[in-house]
Amino acid sequence: MLDVLSILSGSDLFSGLSARSLERIANHLKPVRFDQDVVICREGDIGRTMYIIVSGSVSVSSDMGWGQRELDRKGPGSVFGEMALISNDVRSATVRTLESTECLQLDNESFDALLDKDLDLAQRIAKIMTRRFSTLVHKTSSELLGAYRALTFALANITESRDPETGAHLERTRNYCVLLAEALYREERYKGLITPQFIDGLYQATPLHDVGKVAIPDAILFKPEGLGPEEFEKMKIHTLIGASMMEKVIRQSGADLFKMAYRICLYHHEWWNGTGYPHGLAGENIPLEARIMALADVYDALLSRRVYKPAMAMREAADKIQHGAGVQFDPNMTLVMIANISRFEDVYLKYQDE
Ligand SMILES: [Fe+2]
Ligand SMILES: [Fe+2]
Repeated sequence: MLDVLSILSGSDLFSGLSARSLERIANHLKPVRFDQDVVICREGDIGRTMYIIVSGSVSVSSDMGWGQRELDRKGPGSVFGEMALISNDVRSATVRTLESTECLQLDNESFDALLDKDLDLAQRIAKIMTRRFSTLVHKTSSELLGAYRALTFALANITESRDPETGAHLERTRNYCVLLAEALYREERYKGLITPQFIDGLYQATPLHDVGKVAIPDAILFKPEGLGPEEFEKMKIHTLIGASMMEKVIRQSGADLFKMAYRICLYHHEWWNGTGYPHGLAGENIPLEARIMALADVYDALLSRRVYKPAMAMREAADKIQHGAGVQFDPNMTLVMIANISRFEDVYLKYQDE
């Protein structure tokens, strides 16, 4: 005979409930036995039942897109499928027995009936479920976010191996962009346009600005002196290639970050007066993030030594940027950048090429 009450009070979901509540739950539990290698819950199916393992063990796995992968193993006292009791969502994982396994099952109709009769139980379960759920969401989303950020920067760094511009250039430009966006954020005219989410997106997306250079031939990319007109035309294509790379990622993921990266790749060489490339957009028709990127990119290029030019002094670079206001750059943004120029200089000094 199973000691249902001690199994319940020892389970991670029901421990801490009053004896009365435990007894009530126990009355609704049905024992069930599964042979080895039996699927109890299948990912994607609608779940209506929760299980408590009495003896034996199960493997919890999920389809990762490239194959089934074990996430966890559970043994006596563990609960699984409990989300079925509070939502009608599909199962988020597949549970298969590793050996002959005994469980106690509770279906959601019995659970609803239980909650109706026992307010204390309902409150306690709601609390536990909320905690479990938010821990899960937090863990999953922070893992995903970390992976996605690392991958984005790795992708941007691919260009580094083929581009005379270095990783330090990517680090500096993303920091100039954030600096400028934060300064603009405090201005009335950018209310609702520049938000903390926009700034975070900018930090993640700007390193991708020249990712399209992976497809530019070495003879053009590494040419020590200025490019001829024909070569320059070929170089311009890096904007279109980068944008089409981002388009493919957007089709797969729909992620907003890559929509911003798409606009940055495509438009970071447009000029305020309409004489830039690839589309000759002018003024505010150039997306905000691309206007910010243009300032950051050119400023850093001026300060950096290249095979075909020496580095410019800071004072001179600031003057050059100022002269580009209303020609190459958004005049208001240029004004804000110049007003904060010492902070841009600090970023330049902080992230030096190795
Ligand atoms: Fe570029
Ligand atoms: Fe750049």
